[in-house]
Amino acid sequence: MDLQGKTALITGGGHRIGRGLTLALARAGCNIILHYNRSQAAAQATAAEAEALGARVLLRQADLSHLDDAGPLFADLPDALTPVQILVNSAAIFPKDTLEDVTVAGWSQTFRVNLRSPILLTQAFARSLPADVAGAVVNITDWRTERPYLTHFSYTVSKGALDAFTRTAAIQLAPRVRVNGIALGAMLPPEGATEAYWQSVLATVPLARSGGVDVAGDTLLYLLRNDFITGEIIRLTGGAHLKM
Ligand SMILES: NC(=O)c1ccc[n+]([C@@H]2O[C@H](COP(=O)([O-])OP(=O)(O)OC[C@H]3O[C@@H](n4cnc5c(N)ncnc54)[C@H](OP(=O)(O)O)[C@@H]3O)[C@@H](O)[C@H]2O)c1
Repeated sequence: MDLQGKTALITGGGHRIGRGLTLALARAGCNIILHYNRSQAAAQATAAEAEALGARVLLRQADLSHLDDAGPLFADLPDALTPVQILVNSAAIFPKDTLEDVTVAGWSQTFRVNLRSPILLTQAFARSLPADVAGAVVNITDWRTERPYLTHFSYTVSKGALDAFTRTAAIQLAPRVRVNGIALGAMLPPEGATEAYWQSVLATVPLARSGGVDVAGDTLLYLLRNDFITGEIIRLTGGAHLKM
């Protein structure tokens, strides 16, 4: 896919990894529908950075845990931003829980944000695409679905289901829409994490460093541009998956 002038909708695009993905899209020539929930100021700042790179940007606020129909996110868009040809599902929550202590409410919240909303958004995205237009979806997942976190039960299971959804949607939406994933490793410390915790994570990375946001952006652009990749989930782990 030639990205110049294409419109991308990204969830959670205002800060941290989402910001990095937004700016990578802007540098590649995309226009952007930048979704945020609570981080309005960060989203506005990222939008200004993307606009300075030449992108048109439209901000859309939504609490994805309350989403029963993602259609409105694709509705009433200015002509200059249609059709939306790229969807990046990056928004997620990372609550601490275990199989023993998870509650129905906690489980439900994690699944609503991390799995249900990417599914509803992908459905609305595919429905909104004109019949003769190609699209691409990239889901941001986590390589730890292969080596489960003991401390983030509902997160790990939700991201594992997102991996299965990525492959299933790739088949169901082919040949018009490609669906891929990026399984991130240690990119940025979780907000509020201690330095000691982060160093303990980096000690498990053969390349002995964190990934940062730029490699995630580069991989996103690679998956979008390469028209023969679908149903693929690329690990960005610095080799951690070989070690643990
Ligand atoms: N950081 C890492 O090293 C790492 C590692 C593995 C995987 N990942 C994955 O990479 C992605 C981004 O990670 P991150 O660390 O940058 O995440 P983060 O800092 O925790 O940000 C989460 C994003 O999700 C959005 N979000 C959360 N709850 C929402 C809700 N109810 N409705 C709508 N949006 C909601 C937030 O939007 P607002 O702030 O606007 O509310 C925010 O933009 C996630 O999918 C994560 O699982 C990250």
